[in-house]
Parts: sequence; C-alpha cells; structure tokens
Amino acid sequence: MTQHSFKTQFLERLQAAVADGTFVRLNLGGPTGRDRSIRNLFIRPVKLRGELFLSFVYRHVARDVTKNQAPADAYVLLDELLGNEFTDAFLSTTTGTAHLNVRKGRNAQLKLGPAEDTAVPDLEHDHRKARTVQTSGNTWLRDLGVTGIDDKVRAGMEAKYRQIHRFVELLAPLIREAGLPQDRIPSIVDMGCGKGYLTFALHDHLRRTYERPVRVLGIEQRSELAEASNKIADQRGLDGLQFQTGVIGSTVLQPTDIVVALHACDTATDDALAKGIEAGARLIVVAPCCHREVSPQLIAPAPLAQALSHGILHAREAEFVTDALRAALLEAAGYEARVFEFISPEHTSKNLMISAVRRTAPFDAAAATQRAVALAAFYGLRHQRLAQLLRIPLAA
Ligand SMILES: C[S@@+](CC[C@H](N)C(=O)[O-])C[C@H]1O[C@@H](n2cnc3c(N)ncnc32)[C@H](O)[C@@H]1O
Repeated sequence: MTQHSFKTQFLERLQAAVADGTFVRLNLGGPTGRDRSIRNLFIRPVKLRGELFLSFVYRHVARDVTKNQAPADAYVLLDELLGNEFTDAFLSTTTGTAHLNVRKGRNAQLKLGPAEDTAVPDLEHDHRKARTVQTSGNTWLRDLGVTGIDDKVRAGMEAKYRQIHRFVELLAPLIREAGLPQDRIPSIVDMGCGKGYLTFALHDHLRRTYERPVRVLGIEQRSELAEASNKIADQRGLDGLQFQTGVIGSTVLQPTDIVVALHACDTATDDALAKGIEAGARLIVVAPCCHREVSPQLIAPAPLAQALSHGILHAREAEFVTDALRAALLEAAGYEARVFEFISPEHTSKNLMISAVRRTAPFDAAAATQRAVALAAFYGLRHQRLAQLLRIPLAA
C-alpha cells in the first residue's frame, strides 16, 4: 500500500472514531518541522459550549500551547502535519490503536493494535473535577492535620495544601497523556511517601476523575508513618489505598502503571526511577531531593573550573548534572522525559520535577544512551546510581 493510502486510512480511522464517539487520544511525535522547540502534539476531544472540538496541545520545550479546532479543520491540519511536521502518530480509540509512521521519501507503515482504553471519554472536560483537591468532604485532609473540623485549611498548613493541590494539577494531564489500562485495575505506587499527603491526594484524584477502582500503594521506610496512614485509609474506607513499610531499593513491584517519588532522599530517587522502569510504568514522576552522589565526583571542564570553585555554584552544578543525567537516562530507557518547576521557589528550593512518559513509538535507544554517557563523561562522572541500575557503564 502507498504512503498516501496509509495516511488516508489513518485519518479515516480518526474521523470515524470522532464521529461515533470512540476517539480517546491522538499523539504526534518525531518532530521534523521548522520549529525546533516543538516536541509533541497531543490531541483529544473536548466539548465546549455543547460543541465538539479537538483540543490540540503543542508541547514545546518550555511551554504548552493549546488550540481548539473544529473537527473538519483539524483533519485538514493533520493531513498537512503528518509526514511534514511529525513522523509518528499514535491513535487510541475505544476499539483499537493505530500507529502510523510516515517520512518523506520512505514507505509509510501502519500498525494496528488492541484497545488500550475502552472507556468512552468524558467530553465535558474532566478538568473541573480533576483540578482541585477539595477541602470539604475529604476527611483524610483533616486526619492529616491539613484542614480543621470546619474543613478550612489550618493556619500554618497553607503551603502544604498548595503543594498537594499543585501536585494533582501537574499530574492530571500527565496521567491523561500516559493513559490508564482498561483491562485491569490501574496500579500506582508512591515511593518514600512520608506522611502520605500526596498518596491520599493521588488516590482521591484518580477515584474522583476516573470513577473506577484503583490500587494506590505508598511505600515508606518509617514504619510509624506507614502504620498511621494505613489506619486513616482503613477508618475512612478508602478502597484500594494501602501503605507498606519498606525501602525503595529492595521493594519488589508488580507491574505498575504510575510510579511517583517526591523528595525521596538523594539516590532513593534513582532507586524509584529504576523500579518504575523495571515495573513497566507508563508514567514516572519524581521531585529530586539532595544530590550528594555526584557532587564529589564533579570535575569541572576547563572553562568552568573557576566558576565551580565557588561552593554554591558547584552545588548547583551538581544538581543540574544529576537531574540532566537522570532525564537523559530515562530517554535511553524509552521514556520521554521533561524537567520543570513544580512549585514556586519561594515555598521550597527543591522545586524541580522530572516526568517521564513511556514512548509508544520506536526510538533510537543507542543514540539516547550515547547522549547520557557523553554528558556524564563531560563532567568526569564515573558512577551514578540510575546508570548503574540500568547497567549503563559510565566511562569517565
Ligand atoms: C522529604 S520526605 C517526602 C515525603 C513525601 N514524598 C512528600 O513529598 O510529602 C521523604 C520521605 O522519604 C522516605 N525515604 C527516604 N529514603 C527512602 C527509601 N530509600 N525507602 C523508603 N523511604 C524512604 C523518608 O523516610 C521520608 O519519609
């Protein structure tokens, strides 16, 4: 079949799915266009003032741009974009998936697969439901001391509430993008969950947004915290939410869909990343904490030697190198990694977040690995925990 007819067939599948309400999402990747800052385009159906639109989210390196298109205009635009601006397109409908690879001068490929999501999408925008962690009715917030008996945020807990809220706000679109499995109960693990603020919030968000059972497991090395959180989950009848005393690095995970680890100390973040990759997670989100492993190894490349003789700049460079290397290693493991600010630095300086969505399209693993190794070599690193766990040798 010709390139043209595979593309046509793909677009016809999309049109049919939009028309019969079975369209879930369309992701475009492999950018080849003039705008080098663009990484992906995510498309999903939305209803605005009662009318159906396709929401186009253009993901650039540092920002997202959203444009809503009427379906007829969207098809014309997609016909232009496919093969000219993007090489890969992944269509998910409630009846199946289709992956199109289309490059100028090469034969196009179209692969069909089983449905990954059989639920008819809620077009009335799930943002309103998903965005906020409501204070009223969420008795776990009271049990954790965030809200009082009047369901108002208690004095001194405003920053914690904002952090919980922001976490859910950031995670919601990432979960939508990564998708949840429909053939089994989605499984989510929060590594180094502490008192469980974010674990409870994640469970609440998923239950409320997707209105289906989920399994959320918090892992925490301090047994008193895990026990206290289990007690609250039991007392409040929060089905599917559980806490376990354990150390991240020695935890054995069953296949897991989402792994998060927020401010787990130093290389515990690497352990969580490796566990997520090993468990086949579609989405991994970490907020790194301290960066002790890399700092003493950092050899300043000559032009940076003077700058890095200042302690604070050395410490910041160590953070930069550690997290840049983590992102590069995630790419090598088949994920699309993003690094962004989690919460305003006025609340905490540990405000960096790394998200990783597992790629559905083929990628060049060897080239991605080489980029990670080259980055480590530039700074003279001989070992880094995630590289070691992924068995990627760093030859300084
Ligand atoms: C700074 S707290 C963050 C808690 C929670 N993730 C949050 O963001 O609210 C870090 C937690 O991770 C736990 N932790 C650190 N390293 C760990 C490891 N290797 N295994 C399990 N828990 C760990 C600590 O005991 C602590 O409760």
